[in-house]
Amino acid sequence: MVNDTPQWVFGYGSLIWRPDFEFIEAVPAALSGFARRFWQGSHDHRGLPEHPGRVVTLVSAPGETCVGMAYLIKPEIVQHTFERLDYREKNGYERWRHPLTLQCGRSVDSLVYVAPKHNPAYLGHADADIIVHQILRSEGPSGSNISYLLELATALRRLNACDKHVFELESLARSIMNKGSPCENFIQ
Ligand code: SIN
Repeated sequence: MVNDTPQWVFGYGSLIWRPDFEFIEAVPAALSGFARRFWQGSHDHRGLPEHPGRVVTLVSAPGETCVGMAYLIKPEIVQHTFERLDYREKNGYERWRHPLTLQCGRSVDSLVYVAPKHNPAYLGHADADIIVHQILRSEGPSGSNISYLLELATALRRLNACDKHVFELESLARSIMNKGSPCENFIQ
């Protein structure tokens, strides 16, 4: 990794609301051709090896855009920051290089953590109610899986991002927690 240039990193999951690293800029950004999905198992953060939770990864989705946050890391700490992030994202995530569009319209080179299909913790697609029930009963060293889902939905709303998948899961989870109808709170 080159150490004399700043580096952008794109966060689309917990990195949106919990970037535990130093940065010199943080701006909303979008990654084209990908969609955020709760398809990655979490054995180390929001679940346990015997009861994995579900966290987000990116899947190929031509024509779609994933909105998140881009952080600019200063050159002197790029290496250290990515060593720490590699550890944080260790359960199946790979570091990919991908162009990113910042809110101002500028395109930049970025690094993004993606958990691809072939990783051992990958869970893949399931019906929304299966995903939500798994999230509701999972908890790990970083906290409950439901707080991950609710924090993500709140963070996306703050970014004015429309993510049907996340909002549908949030709505279903809230209605189960409130014992209301799953359709009542559906957010488009
Ligand atoms: C990310 O936030 O960009 C990666 C997925 C996660 O840690 O939730």
